[in-house]
Amino acid sequence: MNMTVEAKRKNSGVEEGRREFSFSSRDFNVLRGLVKALTGIDLHEGKSDMVYGRLTRRLRELNLSSFKEYATLLNADIEGEEVRNFVNSMTTNLTAFFREPHHFEHLKNRVLPHLMKVNAASRRIRIWSAGCSSGEEPYSIAMCVAETMPPGWDVKILATDMDSNMIDTGSKGVYKEERIAGIENNRLHRWFVNGTGSNQGMVRVKPELRDMITFKCLNLMDEWPIKGPLDVLFCRNVIIYFDAETKKTLIDRYFDLLASHGTLFVGHSETLFGVTERADLVGQSIYEKL
Ligand SMILES: C[S@@+](CC[C@H](N)C(=O)[O-])C[C@H]1O[C@@H](n2cnc3c(N)ncnc32)[C@H](O)[C@@H]1O
Repeated sequence: MNMTVEAKRKNSGVEEGRREFSFSSRDFNVLRGLVKALTGIDLHEGKSDMVYGRLTRRLRELNLSSFKEYATLLNADIEGEEVRNFVNSMTTNLTAFFREPHHFEHLKNRVLPHLMKVNAASRRIRIWSAGCSSGEEPYSIAMCVAETMPPGWDVKILATDMDSNMIDTGSKGVYKEERIAGIENNRLHRWFVNGTGSNQGMVRVKPELRDMITFKCLNLMDEWPIKGPLDVLFCRNVIIYFDAETKKTLIDRYFDLLASHGTLFVGHSETLFGVTERADLVGQSIYEKL
C-alpha cells in the first residue's frame, strides 16, 4: 500500500486546526499502552496526532463521544471485533513490489542458487515474509523463485501480517495498475493479468505465484504455528516499530527458526548491530545465520 492511499484511509479523521473530540495525554498514554501490549508497536509522544487522526473514525462509527469510552470498550472485550479494528488502524502498511531491489537480486543471484546446492537432497525451500502488509513483498519473492528455480522443487512462502485487511488484500492478489508501475515489462507480461470490464485499471497476479504463497493473519508477539527450519526470512520495516527488548526477543526467535546459513532480510533502516551475534552481515541489511 502506498503512503498517499494509506494516509488518506488511516488518517481520515484528522481535522486541521480544531479537534472534534478532546484527546488528553492520558487518553494517548492509555491507547499507547494498549497498542504496545497487543502488538509490540512502541508509539512515541510525537505519534499523538497520528493516533487521534486514525481513531476518530472508529469513535464516529461506534457513536462514542470520548476516547475514554473507546478505551473502556476495548478493555471490556480484549479479544473482540473492535480490538481488531483498533490494531488495523494502528499499523503502518507502506510497501511496494520489489521494494529495496538489491534484496531481490541477492535472493535470485546468491541465496536461491546456494539453496539449490545445499537442499539438493530434499528439493525443498521454506520462506517466510513476516509483516508482509498487502502482499507485494511475498509476490516479489515468488517472482524471483519462479524465475530462478528449475521444476521439481517444493518451494513454499508463508506470508503473515497482524493486520487482517492487509491479509485480505494479499490473498486476493488484485492491485491497482499504479502499484505495478515500476515493474519491468517482461515481468509484467509474465506474472500479471489486466482486469477488464468492472476490473479495468486493476491487475491480478497469476495463479502460479498465488499458489506458492499461504497468507495468514499472525501477530508476531504471539506463538507461531511454524515448525521450521526456514531457509529465508524477510522481516523488513517491521522491527523499526518495536523497542529494543521486543526487537531482541523477536530476532532471537527468528534465528531459532532459521536453518544454519539461513538468510534474514531486514529493512534499510534496521540493523542487528547490538541486537544479536548469531549472524553475519553479508549484504546491505542482509544477514546470514552463523
Ligand atoms: C511498513 S509495513 C512493511 C511491509 C513489508 N515488509 C515491506 O517492507 O514492504 C509493516 C507491517 O508490519 C506489520 N506489523 C507490525 N507489527 C506487527 C506484529 N506485531 N505482528 C505482525 N505484523 C506486524 C504491520 O501490520 C505492517 O503491515
